[in-house]
Amino acid sequence: MKAAQLLTSSASPNPAVDPRPSTIAVDGPAASGKSTLGGTLARRLGYLYFDTGVMYRAVTWAALTRSVPTDDEAAVTALAERLHIEVEPPTVEDGRQYTVLADGVDVTWLIRTPEVDAHVSTVSAYPGVRRAMVAQQRRVAAAGRIVMVGRDIGTVVLPDADLKLYVDASVEERARRRWLEVQERGEEADYDDVLASMRHRDEVDSHREVSPLRVAKDAVVLNTTALDIEGVLDRAERLVEERGCPVD
Ligand code: DC
Repeated sequence: MKAAQLLTSSASPNPAVDPRPSTIAVDGPAASGKSTLGGTLARRLGYLYFDTGVMYRAVTWAALTRSVPTDDEAAVTALAERLHIEVEPPTVEDGRQYTVLADGVDVTWLIRTPEVDAHVSTVSAYPGVRRAMVAQQRRVAAAGRIVMVGRDIGTVVLPDADLKLYVDASVEERARRRWLEVQERGEEADYDDVLASMRHRDEVDSHREVSPLRVAKDAVVLNTTALDIEGVLDRAERLVEERGCPVD
């Protein structure tokens, strides 16, 4: 990968006049609600929003479409190192939060297919792939005023983040959300298949050797199984305020 451009916010860092947390890490398992929370929080704060999962998904999509076997670690790592991933403001009004380009191809929706879901855990477990992605993510976060969402943001990518949130929900509820998302896009999906894929992904993401999904020791856990997005946002905004940083 050569570069990732994040242009989702025009906010410029000025810590002298803005005492809010400058880096907010949001981690959690698939479909826990972390992207919705992170995106909305970033918009309300005027911060940059960066969903790091799109990078691992773009590499997985590229491997699948270029006939690179996802179990070939060396080939997938080489692909990750040369793939040009860009994340830009939405270029099409179709409900997307941003546009993702992989070597110039708009893959925003192509990276959300069940096929990518089925392979992305394998790809994201490769140390070389993670090295390439994490280096890029740290460069993007260096300017501050960012809400970065993923699995290892609070533990590995930004261990000194000013606020760390860990968003969780039961696996059944998360599978139900993912199943609804796929249906809303007009694609076929069987709930039991989605649930099985979700359990598999949880297993791989939590037990891989490099940067497994886990709660950072200084993270605040938000459980979204029974809370709607407004409830979760309320809690997150209160946490931002508690650190001496009112939300406008
Ligand atoms: O959040 P998501 O479902 O879009 O993430 C896709 C995959 O990428 C997920 O299975 C784990 C991986 N991932 C990761 O390992 N580290 C991150 N910071 C973000 C995502």
